[in-house]
Amino acid sequence: MIPSDAPGAPGSRPVLLSDYRAPAWRIEHVELACDLDIDASEIRARLALRRNGAGAAPLRLDGEGLALRSINLDGRALEPGEYMLDAEGLTVPGARDGSVLETVVRVEPAKNTALEGLYLSGPRETGFLLTQCEAQGFRRITYCLDRPDVLARYTVTLRADRARFPVLLANGNPDGAGALPDGRHWARFVDPHPKPSYLFALVAGRLEHIERDYVTAEGRAVKLRIFAEADAIGRCGYALDALERAMRWDERVYGRNYDLDVFHIVATHDFNMGAMENKGLNIFNAKYLLADPDATTDDEYRQIEAVVAHEYFHNWTGNRVTCRDWFQLSLKEGLTVFREQSFSADMGSPALKRIEDVSTLRRAQFPEDAGPLAHAVRPAQYCEINNFYTATVYEKGAELVRMLAGRLGADGFRRGTDLYFARHDGQAVTVEDFLKALGDANGLDLMPYLDWYRQAGTPRVRAREVYDAATRSYALTLGQHTPPTPGQAQKRPLPIPLRVALFARDGRLLPLRLEGEAAAAGEERVLELTAAEQTFRFVDVPEPPLPSLLRGFSAPVIVESDEAPADLAFRLRHESDGYNRWDAGQRLAQLAFDAALRGGPGTALVAWCEALAALFDDAALDAALLAELLTPPSAVELGERCAELDPDAVHEARETLENSLAARLGAALEPRYRALHAQADGTLDAAAQARRRLKRRVLDLLCRHDPARGHASARLQFDGAHGMTDRLAALAALVRSGAREAGDALARYRRRYDGNALALDKWFALQAQVPAATALQRVQALMRDPAFTLRNPNRVYALLRSYAQGNPVGFHRADGAAYFWLVERLRELDAINPSVAARLATAFNGWRRLEPVRRRQAQQALAALAADAPRLSRDLADILERTLA
Ligand code: PHE
Ligand code: ZN
Repeated sequence: MIPSDAPGAPGSRPVLLSDYRAPAWRIEHVELACDLDIDASEIRARLALRRNGAGAAPLRLDGEGLALRSINLDGRALEPGEYMLDAEGLTVPGARDGSVLETVVRVEPAKNTALEGLYLSGPRETGFLLTQCEAQGFRRITYCLDRPDVLARYTVTLRADRARFPVLLANGNPDGAGALPDGRHWARFVDPHPKPSYLFALVAGRLEHIERDYVTAEGRAVKLRIFAEADAIGRCGYALDALERAMRWDERVYGRNYDLDVFHIVATHDFNMGAMENKGLNIFNAKYLLADPDATTDDEYRQIEAVVAHEYFHNWTGNRVTCRDWFQLSLKEGLTVFREQSFSADMGSPALKRIEDVSTLRRAQFPEDAGPLAHAVRPAQYCEINNFYTATVYEKGAELVRMLAGRLGADGFRRGTDLYFARHDGQAVTVEDFLKALGDANGLDLMPYLDWYRQAGTPRVRAREVYDAATRSYALTLGQHTPPTPGQAQKRPLPIPLRVALFARDGRLLPLRLEGEAAAAGEERVLELTAAEQTFRFVDVPEPPLPSLLRGFSAPVIVESDEAPADLAFRLRHESDGYNRWDAGQRLAQLAFDAALRGGPGTALVAWCEALAALFDDAALDAALLAELLTPPSAVELGERCAELDPDAVHEARETLENSLAARLGAALEPRYRALHAQADGTLDAAAQARRRLKRRVLDLLCRHDPARGHASARLQFDGAHGMTDRLAALAALVRSGAREAGDALARYRRRYDGNALALDKWFALQAQVPAATALQRVQALMRDPAFTLRNPNRVYALLRSYAQGNPVGFHRADGAAYFWLVERLRELDAINPSVAARLATAFNGWRRLEPVRRRQAQQALAALAADAPRLSRDLADILERTLA
């Protein structure tokens, strides 16, 4: 492992946005020559330096875990006294404007288990070398100005043994290759686009590839290539198709064309995150690239398409226009997630996509916003930037862009992004620059939206209504408040666009005319709530209407309303828009849950079940949407409703919902299941996917209603499945419903997919999530499976994170055993891979809201680990410190 020289969080100073200063030096050109090998690689760097501005600051370069072999300034070797080395970098007082600094360093890829910098993927005999630089990995490769506002042109020469490393790749266009003595060879790449160091990448090893010719709308011929190890190359075709779709879409929708002669993607099984947008050389976690019908589920196919698009879209939103500093991370991530979401919506069903995105936000981001790790989309400070690749920066950031896009309309938003690209191409910019460009292109001041980027916490919007029959007017009073978050006690009102409609009792939408307007303006409109409270008065309203607020989830807020179960049931039946219909059902399910938790009357539960029973028979309803409607909110979301959280009680109450629904649908389940199963095939078209999605849900309900038939059906489905979606759904149904057949099916799956890492991850994850008091023993047993290792992030996430974050009942044991157990795993993992350890530690996010017994246990476990902070990585120590604060 590259030694982590940074001290743990206590004592390590936070980086402040307000401390930002433009760099004192620039680098015009970076020339790298890399002699690559598994145990030791030698990196020779030649930096053409420029002073930036008039200051006299000495040259200071970042570098971590590097063994310096030689250092030359303007052609002369420096004496020891002419440069200063410390754990975080190198100072060269003699450097002048126009100087050229040459360093040679040695790094040890095989020892790098943190997977940042240059590392080995796979076994040392067969694996390959690759890099990961975002956010601050380049400093583990060479001494440099490792900050995103230093943009340089790169020329990279790679040299290695030809037999061991036949493929050599770096960013930019290929610029020659050839043989060297002793069986070695070289390859050179020139990247004409200046870029920050975090976008640097190289790859070397035995890789196969597939390729396709592509011509951009502007007429540039591009070779698209995907590289993977021999056993994986047959699974890259789907990703290549997705890439082409993404490239065409970006040309059509944003007018963005690709800008190099090659676009390369490489797949690895050893990756901390999903994928990385290195210029012209994207590197992907295999999980988001490899697909084949036998091992990939429908959900995964969609994810792969989305991540391929996401990384490609970064070429403009992130690479051509990059971030000034890491506080601006959402400038590229929020915008790129928004672009990716829009693309996926266009490729499939917009309503379903919106439902998925909102439920992700509620499951992952709302809890973050409500807990000790809450932070703004653009935080004002950080100790460890790795810990800010969060749902808030990504998903909430995307919602902010969506709000802006909604405010401007499609044409206005396109004018805005056109100006943003034209004005800032080749620059490192801020969220303010983005808002300014969007505003300038439309003659608007969007700066009030900056508060959304600066203020953490999920705003609550409350609605009160008064209908006056005498004047036929309807007054909607909207109030907002945002609960305090760590370091931000006071919150300001935000500009909140609320898309609303009013239903008449017969299910039709009423025309909307606000007081003072000459005529009604449509049946749906956006109300801009900008103050703490505002009243909107509609006139010509013939009857007391039923309001439909926050249509399409027009802002990332929680609407608190007293809508009665009967009204929610009405909207669940009648809303024309898929998202709103789903949301009405979710609200109704929440009311049913609240009542079940208190042991109160089941009015909402009955209303929910009756409405769903009616929709179950509605032949016009899309099968995938029905599957979503039939699914109550997750235990995590429901737990967010409790002031004091008892995960067992949440689970029981949620079970009441599930069982009641299963009982209500009763005899209708089996025929529906059989009808869906009769149409089973392995095709990937939307209708087939939708049927499988509904079938999975119906099978789960059937297993509750009639376990004997349910288990028999699941067993048959498992044995005869046409693809992974059906196979995994059947296996999950058997395992989760405690079927007698479960053990045997698990064993058969394990054998069938032995050696298929991605399929085994699903096997680990499924078992880790079974809600049972015995979950910990099960997870401990699975850790002894020969396929388990703490060294592979995907495996750690599949087993440990699925358990700690996806199994509230199993993890939050009242005796605290799982907390103490996880803390020990965090210790081990931290020594291997700090950023993965830190991510896993966020499982403790909600500890303060736990009921007192569990809370005490969690606190003790956390405190024991925090006491060791000086021996922990900065990543883990930072999470612990904030979690306990
Ligand atoms: N920038 C990557 C993305 O969003 C995520 C990432 C961050 C990957 C840090 C690796 C390290 O696509
Ligand atoms: Zn991204």
